[in-house]
Amino acid sequence: MSEDIIDLSRRHVFGTWRIQKTWKPVNIVSAEGCYFTDSNGRRYLDFSSQLICINIGHGNKNIIDAIYQYMKRLQYLSPAFTCDVRAELSRMLLEIMPNNIVKFFYSTSGTEAVEAALKIARMYTRKHKVISRYKSYHGATAASISITGEWRRIPVEGYHTVPGTQFAPECYCYRCPFKLNYPSCGITCAEYIDYMLQHEDDVAAVIVEPVVGTNGVLVPPPEYLPRLREITREYNVLLIADEVMSGWLRTGEWFAVQHWRVEPDIITTAKGVTSGYLPLGVTGVSKEISDYFEEHLFAHGHTYEAHPVTLAAGIATINEYHKLGIKENVKKVGEYLGRRLRELEEKHPSIGEVRGLGLFWAVDLTKDRKTRKPMNNPKDKLYGKPIIVEKVASKAFEQGVFVIGWINNILVAPPLIAVREDIDKGVEALDEALKIADQEATP
Ligand SMILES: Cc1ncc(COP(=O)(O)O)c(C=O)c1O
Repeated sequence: MSEDIIDLSRRHVFGTWRIQKTWKPVNIVSAEGCYFTDSNGRRYLDFSSQLICINIGHGNKNIIDAIYQYMKRLQYLSPAFTCDVRAELSRMLLEIMPNNIVKFFYSTSGTEAVEAALKIARMYTRKHKVISRYKSYHGATAASISITGEWRRIPVEGYHTVPGTQFAPECYCYRCPFKLNYPSCGITCAEYIDYMLQHEDDVAAVIVEPVVGTNGVLVPPPEYLPRLREITREYNVLLIADEVMSGWLRTGEWFAVQHWRVEPDIITTAKGVTSGYLPLGVTGVSKEISDYFEEHLFAHGHTYEAHPVTLAAGIATINEYHKLGIKENVKKVGEYLGRRLRELEEKHPSIGEVRGLGLFWAVDLTKDRKTRKPMNNPKDKLYGKPIIVEKVASKAFEQGVFVIGWINNILVAPPLIAVREDIDKGVEALDEALKIADQEATP
């Protein structure tokens, strides 16, 4: 039976961002808390919260019940109407989002949240270009993939991309694109964007993941985002914070920009808003942008926007974040996770750096600690070359720990309800699995 499920899935469902013949999905039958179980009854620790989204953990009864209860009452509502959850979730978001964000567009994914942000930015500014950074992922559709700096854009470049993106170097101190050192660098990566804006015209927005997720949990130094805010204001360009992955207490604050008290003009989020239980994307905008559309056409919308059952899930999830003391847990367990990963760093020559914030960490591999040469480059993934972090992740999975390996980083991001024992179990598996990478590294 399970073989049928795997075989039918293999034949008729796309495995995404991969060459199909290498996809061997495991059949998962149930999940609870930080663990999920396969059809052979084997339990796995979810050390990457599935796709860094199941923040409250699997099987939360209150969220499930809220979804069920609302579904019984209202299964769908046209965007032309309103209902209690449309008002209530918006009110709750006002309390936790950066203060200047006052109005929301609700969609069904992070990609759509970004797509809406770009459209809003272009309608509001009547300008076209967007500055993004190379190490970024912003979504899979035409506009959002066009502003994605990493390898996923390359296969569709030109015929599925929207013109007008300029890429800037990222803020990545361990492998600084300018080969400088912090703090004597003077945050050249931010100043470079100032330089770009001196030379470019028609720029609507600069978009950043405040803490870069998919591309290796890049936490900027404290001056970076405030400086970017200054620069974007000076040139009258919008700042969009893409918090699809970094939002929802993942880094210890509701949204990562709040670590540095930065107020973006537009914020995008998804994933943790419903803890992944239902598909919901959110695009929040400032009062200035909101006011603009009082007199101008808001030319956007779709059938499933602000779907009431997804909004009910959002409300229940925010209530759970509060009730379960998630913020406090992220601080406490996050510090412990950082300590444990640093122990691994000391032990394994293949680890170049571990870095992170809250319960959002990356283990960044290197072939050689002196040169900091990565084990793999993004183009290795494009051209189907073996990826060492994928081998490390497979080995960890054999030991009952699911963790994501992307290009050159292992993304450690357990559900935000994790306790020390979960961290210990995950770190133990990584300790064993990293031996594979050590064989590729200069001792
Ligand atoms: C920063 C960021 N933006 C956008 C997206 C796209 O979100 P989704 O996969 O929900 O469409 C992601 C997905 O991981 C993301 O990390």
